[in-house]
Amino acid sequence: MFRVRKAVIPVAGFGTRFLPATKSTPKEMLPIVDKPIIQFIVEEAVSSGIETIIFITGRHKRAIEDYFDYTPELEFTLKKAGKDEHVEKIREISNMADFVYVRQKEQLGLGHAILSAEHVVGNEPFAVLLGDELIINDEKPALKQLIDVFNRFSKSVIGTMKVSKEETNKYGIVDGMEVEENIKLVKYLVEKPSPEEAPSTDAIIGRYILTPKIFDMLKKTPFGKGGEIQLTDALLNLLNYEVIYSTEMEGRRYDTGNKYGYLEAIFEIALEREDTSDFVKSIIKRLNERIDIKS
Ligand code: UTP
Repeated sequence: MFRVRKAVIPVAGFGTRFLPATKSTPKEMLPIVDKPIIQFIVEEAVSSGIETIIFITGRHKRAIEDYFDYTPELEFTLKKAGKDEHVEKIREISNMADFVYVRQKEQLGLGHAILSAEHVVGNEPFAVLLGDELIINDEKPALKQLIDVFNRFSKSVIGTMKVSKEETNKYGIVDGMEVEENIKLVKYLVEKPSPEEAPSTDAIIGRYILTPKIFDMLKKTPFGKGGEIQLTDALLNLLNYEVIYSTEMEGRRYDTGNKYGYLEAIFEIALEREDTSDFVKSIIKRLNERIDIKS
């Protein structure tokens, strides 16, 4: 049986919801206090057992490559200044995994981005993590929750979370039949359905384990919603050949691709961090005095 060793992280999107910041900075490099969002995602993958990270990048995303590379000049300067603990910290970032970069020459959608990784993934199951979906679970990383299901069935597994009926038009939605506690057999998938059309409120939120058969499906997938090659459409076609499971993931989720999700992540994570917690509390106290709580 294959083990899930490789993870594809697509980061080639334009990030239009976060303009103007994303005009020249990848949204994945925006920091949550002092750690870029993408490092949280890579740490989740590595602590779930992933050894190789395949980034799907594009123009204006060079900062991500540089971030996971060695920085000898910086290390030399820090060492000279006696800041050895910083040297170790920045070295660890580059040593977390093997990093591979594939350029997506045209931004034709998430499905197209994943297809660009075919030659690096080869004929084995792999994980997909979206570079702007942060899921915090200190006990069991979100991806590990999916890998555990894969290890039992050796089939594709989609991570879901419940959303409100009104929000279904922002997500891929899965309809499934529960076969065990928190494991569903997927019957149908649809990308961004209106609340009236949505078959359920189980939303796909950026974590997948996929079998390599998905590449054949992606090659045949026409442009779909938003004029993009949609992974959800390819998964729907995959159902004609293989079963797919879904599982509801546990954790706190932030869509950091939009400013509200990003702000929420900063506040909540900073509130939990030992070095910033008291400071955040003092800001909240001060701001509380200025806010009419009733409004
Ligand atoms: P999004 O829908 O969030 O698109 O893509 P986006 O372009 O990044 O952001 P907005 O909507 O314009 O603000 C979901 C994920 O798929 C990647 C993105 O980088 C993001 O991680 N993606 C999307 C690609 O890698 N290539 C694409 O062609 C499209």
